[in-house]
Amino acid sequence: MIDIVIEGKAFVNGRIQKCCIGIDEGKILSVKKILKGEKNLDFGDKLILPAGIDAHVHFRDPGQTHKEDFFTGTMSAAFGGISCILDMPNTVPPTTTIDALDEKIRIAKRKSVVDFGLYAEINKNAKQIPFLSKKCIAFKLYLPELRDDLDILKKIPEDKVIAVHAEDRKCIQKHGKKSKNLLDHSNSRPIKCEVKGIKKVIDATKSLKNSLHICHCSSMEGIKLSKLKNRNQQISVGTTPHHLLLSTNSDFRGQSFGKVNPPLREEKDRAKLFDKMRDGETDILESDHAPHLIEEKKKNFDDAPAGLPGVETMLPLFLFLVKKEWISLPRLVGMVSERPAEIFHIKKGKISQGRDADLLVTDFKERKIKSKDMHSKCGWTPFEGMDAIFPTNLFLRGERIIEDREFVGEKGYGKFIGE
Ligand code: DOR
Ligand code: ZN
Repeated sequence: MIDIVIEGKAFVNGRIQKCCIGIDEGKILSVKKILKGEKNLDFGDKLILPAGIDAHVHFRDPGQTHKEDFFTGTMSAAFGGISCILDMPNTVPPTTTIDALDEKIRIAKRKSVVDFGLYAEINKNAKQIPFLSKKCIAFKLYLPELRDDLDILKKIPEDKVIAVHAEDRKCIQKHGKKSKNLLDHSNSRPIKCEVKGIKKVIDATKSLKNSLHICHCSSMEGIKLSKLKNRNQQISVGTTPHHLLLSTNSDFRGQSFGKVNPPLREEKDRAKLFDKMRDGETDILESDHAPHLIEEKKKNFDDAPAGLPGVETMLPLFLFLVKKEWISLPRLVGMVSERPAEIFHIKKGKISQGRDADLLVTDFKERKIKSKDMHSKCGWTPFEGMDAIFPTNLFLRGERIIEDREFVGEKGYGKFIGE
């Protein structure tokens, strides 16, 4: 007998259909018109979607747990319909050695409420790469700091994704100046530095078999370059809700609350980026959730740290855009579930046999985003007051972890993907 059957209008094979999803040992066993299980849950007219995967978060654990930790970070994810996060390596210590990676796995296993994969960082030390490769989900290359040439990339096993923050270091140095506001900041790290960074990393990986992921692309120009046809490289592009929905013109509680790298762009450039995303020229949405406390963000612009929270609001903001018909539902599911699963080889992201039973349920009712409702330790959101559709229920490997907008999961239930 099947453990659980979840019934409703589900997004299966690219369209919405009334069906039953049979779940056994946390995996989807079958999707049929009629199924009977030990337990049947009927969601009636509500929509059932594959839960989201956020391929880019900074949960600050270990080392900066006053900003976030694996519990608060994954709680934010769960409330935002995300059942799996991939955490970035710029923690303290950075995830550049197998010891640091193992320690992070231990911590995250104890605290996480959703599943997690971990990035390793590429630095000058090639010796650690074979050890890190056994467990990390992908390697992160941070161009603003890497001084050497990129020969080290050849040491990375070819089945590993290379994810890159593509702002060219020399270009940033050349344009960098003291900034007082968001427009200054964008001009001090202009779009051409991103384009240069992308060019450089594409050149450096030309002869490699690894797929390349361009993180948080902030410009239409960057997307165009990454997606040039007739290359035999596998290149995917991620964009963030903040670059797509906010600009140097947006209202913040102070300008430094919009400070992030790559920077928010001018309104005309934001609109072009949005069009590219809507038209299917990007691969995934990623939040780049990078929380800093309000006290830190309140400093004068130049001293304030760069980074914005976003893991809880990403999918809800875009579900609202689906309701408004700004983007299509298949496009959204592609960007938050199907493509991240494909790029990072995660057995989630689709309502189909053999995948993890990670599902979200939505009634499509919008509410205003409010800082006080968010679960991040940082205590604020750059999307304050915007409309969003938060999931009513979330299932992770067949277990309900959000029920009627309440958390019913368990700290430590989140599983490491990579062992
Ligand atoms: O704005 C940013 N904040 N960009 C990054 O690349 C890092 C991030 C952080 O960790 O705060
Ligand atoms: Zn980041």
